Amino acid sequence: MKPINVAIDGPSGAGKSTIARAASEKLGYVYVDTGALYRTVALNVLRNGVSDKDVPAVIKTLENLSVKLGFVDGAQHVYLNGEDVSSLIRTPEVSMAASTTSAIPEVRKFLFNLQREIAQENNCIMDGRDIGTVVLPDAQVKIFLTASPEKRAERRCKELIEKGIETTFEEVLKDVIERDYNDSHREIAPLKATEESIIVDTSDIDLQQSIDLIIKTIQENI
Ligand code: DC
Repeated sequence: MKPINVAIDGPSGAGKSTIARAASEKLGYVYVDTGALYRTVALNVLRNGVSDKDVPAVIKTLENLSVKLGFVDGAQHVYLNGEDVSSLIRTPEVSMAASTTSAIPEVRKFLFNLQREIAQENNCIMDGRDIGTVVLPDAQVKIFLTASPEKRAERRCKELIEKGIETTFEEVLKDVIERDYNDSHREIAPLKATEESIIVDTSDIDLQQSIDLIIKTIQENI
């Protein structure tokens, strides 16, 4: 039987990963955070001392690179050449480098099959920017999850501070706006809703309400 695939796309900080993870747990689906894959490629770029804007050099880092996903107690872990880098990819530096390098077609091609294979083998909720448009165009449910830039910056700022990463609201808002622009204006696989996407705005609802709404939306549409 064809697995159930749910695509959740949206800008950074809309709560995609927290909401998708909670919904997957409730529904018994595998949760796939595709941003982690782009972040892992970016971490490798930074580790190699390559500028994220040097396209040929970034492409070169893909040679002999292994990016794999694993699931430990239902939680996704990402491996860079066998090393678990799941926490190391969460810094603002990696965020920005992922936004830049994910605009390179070779990077997207490099990660495409991995994402497709997981979805062909598992009932899953996959979140990213181009899941409904490119990776899983046949997904049974497509959700576009969004919130205002200010709300997203506020949430991301809180998250970073909780992790001990020093930052300010203004700095995070600037990053959010810059990444939104990059992600939605790039030529390849830009962030956008499809015609079938159900738009969910979480600006004025809290996390639990957002999770409940997404679960309800999925259940009503599969
Ligand atoms: O969701 P995130 O913030 O972890 O994603 C990091 C970057 O990766 C984001 O700026 C855009 C890119 N990305 C992408 O281009 N396509 C995806 N499917 C997921 C993420």
